[in-house]
Amino acid sequence: MTTNTTTTTTLDGGQSSTTHDAEGAAPVGALVGSQIGIDCPEALADWFERVYAQAQEHAGRAPWCHGGSNPSFIAWLNAEAPSIIRPGARVVVAACGLGHDVAELVRRGYDAVGFDLAPTCVELAKKEHPELAERFFQADLLDLPARLRGRYDLVVEIHTIQSAPPSMRPALVQGLCGMLHRHGVLIAIARGRDVSEPIESIVGPPHPLTAGELESLFAAEGLTPTRAIDDFFDDNDPPARRLRGVFTVDHNDA
Ligand SMILES: C[S@@+](CC[C@H](N)C(=O)[O-])C[C@H]1O[C@@H](n2cnc3c(N)ncnc32)[C@H](O)[C@@H]1O
Repeated sequence: MTTNTTTTTTLDGGQSSTTHDAEGAAPVGALVGSQIGIDCPEALADWFERVYAQAQEHAGRAPWCHGGSNPSFIAWLNAEAPSIIRPGARVVVAACGLGHDVAELVRRGYDAVGFDLAPTCVELAKKEHPELAERFFQADLLDLPARLRGRYDLVVEIHTIQSAPPSMRPALVQGLCGMLHRHGVLIAIARGRDVSEPIESIVGPPHPLTAGELESLFAAEGLTPTRAIDDFFDDNDPPARRLRGVFTVDHNDA
């Protein structure tokens, strides 16, 4: 597939001096090259598929996969989800990667499925969780099948918005929100940045968001945060700034 990227290094060339880390970052070393310059959905799709294809050759490890569910998501599942989402609720993990968040949700009694754009990623998720294989499928947030629309009690988004160039954010968010049913809840977790840091000054991916940007993206789709967006540093070494927002459909003007 031809892309219009201006990628500075190749996936297999191993010449990258770019060492962005996980969650949508350009992964390091020979495994992956730089995503810099990708500015259209086709190029991004191609890039992710190539990352997973190479991950397949490296014991199934994609650079952003740490072998378990996202810690900031687990913290939310422990503290807040039980009062918002009933057991058995329908949950979709968009852009699910290797599927650990789906597995965590199922373990907790939710009726969870996950999809990803990259076919190889879906294969890897099925291999990683053979007992849940039927819960993983390929789909594109930018072109969702009708059967996913308006269906879910909870939509989970972790590190996908940040992995795309800012110009693609509104379309991704539109896809995410379209899967919620009228009284559904959406959780989004993303790299955070300060309002004083212009996005142009950051070489992504990831392309961190301000809390205001996250809120505005969802407001454009009629969603409001259930409370102030969490803005915190995680336990990574070095710590990374994270945003965690929980949103519901605003029925005030419906
Ligand atoms: C940085 S990874 C994060 C994966 C996973 N959520 C996690 O936290 O490990 C971003 C994921 O988004 C997926 N993705 C990117 N664009 C997508 C789209 N339009 N539709 C569905 N998945 C997409 C990629 O294939 C990749 O698996």
